[in-house]
Amino acid sequence: MRFRLAGAVLLSVAAYYVYLPLPSGVCEPWKLMLLDAVFRTFMQASDAAHALGLCHRVHLLNHLVSWVEEIEARSCDAVHVTDCKLGGVSTRVFQPKGGEKLKRGVVYFHGGGWALGSGRMRSYDRLCRKMAEDLDAVIMSVDYRLAPDAVFPDQFNDALAASWDFLSLEVLERYGVDPERLCVSGDSAGGNLAAAVAQELSSDESLTVKFKLQALIYPVLQALDFHTPSYQQNQAVPILYRPYMARFWLQYLGGDSSLEPLLLANNHSSLDEVAVDAETRSRLDWTTLLPSERRKDYKPVVKETGSPGLTDELLAALTDVRAAPLLAEQRILGRTPKAYVMTCEFDVLRDDGLMYVRRLQDAGVPVTSDHYEDGFHGCMVFASLPMMSDVGQRSLNNYIQWLDRNL
Ligand SMILES: *[C@@H]1O[C@H](CO)[C@@H](O)[C@H](O)[C@H]1NC(C)=O
Repeated sequence: MRFRLAGAVLLSVAAYYVYLPLPSGVCEPWKLMLLDAVFRTFMQASDAAHALGLCHRVHLLNHLVSWVEEIEARSCDAVHVTDCKLGGVSTRVFQPKGGEKLKRGVVYFHGGGWALGSGRMRSYDRLCRKMAEDLDAVIMSVDYRLAPDAVFPDQFNDALAASWDFLSLEVLERYGVDPERLCVSGDSAGGNLAAAVAQELSSDESLTVKFKLQALIYPVLQALDFHTPSYQQNQAVPILYRPYMARFWLQYLGGDSSLEPLLLANNHSSLDEVAVDAETRSRLDWTTLLPSERRKDYKPVVKETGSPGLTDELLAALTDVRAAPLLAEQRILGRTPKAYVMTCEFDVLRDDGLMYVRRLQDAGVPVTSDHYEDGFHGCMVFASLPMMSDVGQRSLNNYIQWLDRNL
């Protein structure tokens, strides 16, 4: 009797901890709640350690994640897996075995807010292995340096150096890759790096080999507006809560974490902020770039006057297209490769992606906009966790199918 009572109490406590009211329409809400409970536990443990001065929260988080998730490079029947350097950057390579013909090639950047994660994690290892096998393609999963040890533009520069090296005839030949069939891809912060690299390389006249495609999975593309309709609608939807995103941005751009409330108030892009000119504002003006069914009744949050405290360095980074690819000129966008952009309805970053779709289209780039009405941030990469969802599987299959048809 006592055991049963204790069991019931424990279960209720666990249910209370896990339970979150979610918007109706989220795919398999209980699974998302479980995933979120795991994330929240990690985040809270790291916050506690940070507050106690034991270590930086990101370091502890990364230790936790690598302890649970990182695996050795292990080949299987179909795919040869090794760790190498690409442009001096650690990279895990997935090469399909057998076949004489040249393979297609993908450079992949993992997500994790420019601060967390690794291509050596089980989830990314599984994703890239599947891509290598299903597409009969060579996949390069790049471990760019992470915040807080590295800050912008280090992550971008690592992504660029790795891509540059991959596009060299020497490396393509070494891995038997077809120079005409190359894609740059990534999810979340990795989608940010993929978009930025695609822009940078498209404008480089000296390159003979270029990417044929860019595939961006729920990318983060701007930090000037934390009140897009999707930021407003999904601010309390797991796993990427609105304040997390402001914190990730500040870490990436080397800003002080005390500026988080200022960013969340949109005080950094107030109308009296001369560093953000009218042209820049128009490039993320969702009142014109988003269709009405996404804008709904949400109102823009535009401050007349902001608050002091922003350094020139931070303002320069916030408006740098290498950090915020959505802010690129149309002329630059027009040179970037054919695109695939995945977005999820229950994701604060939905509108970053949807506005990029619209701006690429306006620039004349063929774009496939793949939107998931029941999707949430992270769903594709967590598709293979035991608790993971139907929308994860669907989005993963569609992503691979798009690559197969277009690469
Ligand atoms: C944002 O700016 C307004 C003035 O426009 C100020 O009253 C407010 O305190 C600022 N908020 C933050 C979080 O800095």
